[in-house]
Amino acid sequence: MDRFPDTPDYTGINTPVGEEYDIESLDVDGEIPGDVEGSFFRAVPDPAFPPYMEDGGAIISGDGMISAFRFEGGKASCGMRFVQTARHRAEVAAGRALFGKYRNPYTDKPEAQGIDRTLANTTPVWHAGRLLLSKEDGHPYRVDPRTLETLGSYDFGGKLKSETVSAHVRIDPDTGEMFSFGYEADGLGSTKVSYFVADRDGELKREQWFDVPYCALMHDFAVTEHYALFPVYPTTCDPERVRAGGDHWVHEPDRESWVGVVPRDGDVKDIRWFRGPKGVFCFHMMNAFEDAEGRIQFDQCLSDVNPFPFIQHASGLNVPPEQMNSRLARWTIDIASSSDAVTETVIGPPGDLPVIPARLQGRAQTHGWLLTMNPEMQGPPVLGGPVGAMFNTLLRLDFTGGPPQALALAPNECFNEPVHVPAADPARGGWLLTVVNRQLGPEEFDNFVWVLEADNIPAGPVAKIAVPRRLRPQVHGWWVSAEQLGT
Ligand SMILES: [Fe+2]
Repeated sequence: MDRFPDTPDYTGINTPVGEEYDIESLDVDGEIPGDVEGSFFRAVPDPAFPPYMEDGGAIISGDGMISAFRFEGGKASCGMRFVQTARHRAEVAAGRALFGKYRNPYTDKPEAQGIDRTLANTTPVWHAGRLLLSKEDGHPYRVDPRTLETLGSYDFGGKLKSETVSAHVRIDPDTGEMFSFGYEADGLGSTKVSYFVADRDGELKREQWFDVPYCALMHDFAVTEHYALFPVYPTTCDPERVRAGGDHWVHEPDRESWVGVVPRDGDVKDIRWFRGPKGVFCFHMMNAFEDAEGRIQFDQCLSDVNPFPFIQHASGLNVPPEQMNSRLARWTIDIASSSDAVTETVIGPPGDLPVIPARLQGRAQTHGWLLTMNPEMQGPPVLGGPVGAMFNTLLRLDFTGGPPQALALAPNECFNEPVHVPAADPARGGWLLTVVNRQLGPEEFDNFVWVLEADNIPAGPVAKIAVPRRLRPQVHGWWVSAEQLGT
């Protein structure tokens, strides 16, 4: 195939861009607050070469691009680069795609054998002065935060045994430790999970392995002050199916979900498994914390089924969004009880890509932000991204009894995941940065970075930065302050 297919994964907002650039000065409408000094990094999947076979997972199987919006003295600039993964370099050398379906090495071309096939396209993680671009099926790649040059695959100086590293880490705001994990830790379809901790200087200080009840899509996890929580939802991998050229993931609605609870600084042999409802799925957890009674509260963007259309299709399922029973669910886990039950309370509406201030990680969050769909929107949403439609509404949820806030876009506009920028004054709520796309025609978009007052989102942006380039949907972002970059 010498051109990209004329299908939803490669048209509209999903049209491959493949452009690396630096723009020294971006037009700013409004005023960038003094707190916003640093870089907003984004991971953007963007396939460099047309595929040679159909792939349901194509939208999350594009080459990793690292995007940076830089803010300095009220001015903004930006840069975009391919992450030079071994896979990307091999395909550039060949001048064509060599890797087949999403997470199925048995569909690769013979020339691809033995080449690391991870894509570094999911999250830019900042810890201990390092910027790591990660995808959960391999090791992350380290990228220079200033030049966006790729520095190579990163395995904590050869110390990490796990073959995989999650795209979602949790950083304790007091200790500065980074908690992470890898599933399928010793190979495709494995039930081995690695739980590891790096200290505030980035030194790997502990790695322990345990088994999960079945090989599952473990996209995210959570930590409290004393526990690490490993949810296992029944989107499963059968290595035989993958070997036969099939899909990596199939959702099994009749299978139970589980949460493994490990003492955060203890031994994985003390893991306790708590039983959740059958068939549920969550990609992203908002947070987890211990309440005054010592119970664990675990807040997740939960649905009754895996919401990704390509995973539903591979599973023979076709559940429309309004029937998925999506909600922000709080599971209460009573660690003092001998029962393995969890109790669910619905604490928020359907949505995903939850954000809380970094200082509240693992503590009772007073508030958080979430992207969702406006049920009253007059007109279809912008089509694209992993779930097929882009989110058009930003919510601020108050967990102390205050009212929620909402900011809904016009029908032809959509949000990407925001990042939170703390204010220098701890009494103030800080800012949100988010990319907003405005569709003007089938292949025509205006793109902006919006700066919003985090505790007053209905007021709309205080600054809009115009981006004179096509932008494919981002997956996750990360804010790194100028002070952090200086380290
Ligand atoms: Fe994610």
